[in-house]
Amino acid sequence: MPAASPYEILGDEGIGQLCRVFYEVMDELPQAAELRALHAADLSEVQRKLAAYLTGWMGGPPVYLAAYGTVCLTDAHKPFLIDERLRDQWLLCMDEALHRTQAGAELKTMLAEPLRAIADAVVNYRGGRQPTGARVIARG
Ligand code: HEM
Repeated sequence: MPAASPYEILGDEGIGQLCRVFYEVMDELPQAAELRALHAADLSEVQRKLAAYLTGWMGGPPVYLAAYGTVCLTDAHKPFLIDERLRDQWLLCMDEALHRTQAGAELKTMLAEPLRAIADAVVNYRGGRQPTGARVIARG
């Protein structure tokens, strides 16, 4: 019997809960403050969009594709400079959300590599951060 897909394990409700907790974690973890600051004050829309995206990505119906006509994340993230540090903050929030929603070991193992790969694909800046003039002066 083929292994269940993450969608079969979580269902619509589980994916919805995972996304709600993901943005709660992003909102509260000091280590994700930089990532949080890139997002709008109200996280409800991006929460719905992430749930729609993950539904298809996890093997369920392609609801994001049906609504927005693409599953390419490049354009959606183009307005933001996303480096490996932000990627790691995103992955940290997802790890913590999986933990808080009591995801089983099988699901965590199933998702670990693909999540890392998709988060890596969103990185669009690998040049390293330039300190701002203000910071350099402040360091004095
Ligand atoms: C790698 C680090 C990532 C960063 C820094 C990041 C950041 C962001 C930001 C700032 C937004 C806009 C939110 C807003 O308008 O409030 C956004 C939207 C979104 N992100 Fe990410 N993201 C990352 C990775 C991912 C990954 C891995 C996925 C999918 C698995 C994802 C899915 C989405 C979706 C579906 C949206 C909504 C796009 C739309 O407007 O249709 N993001 N992200």
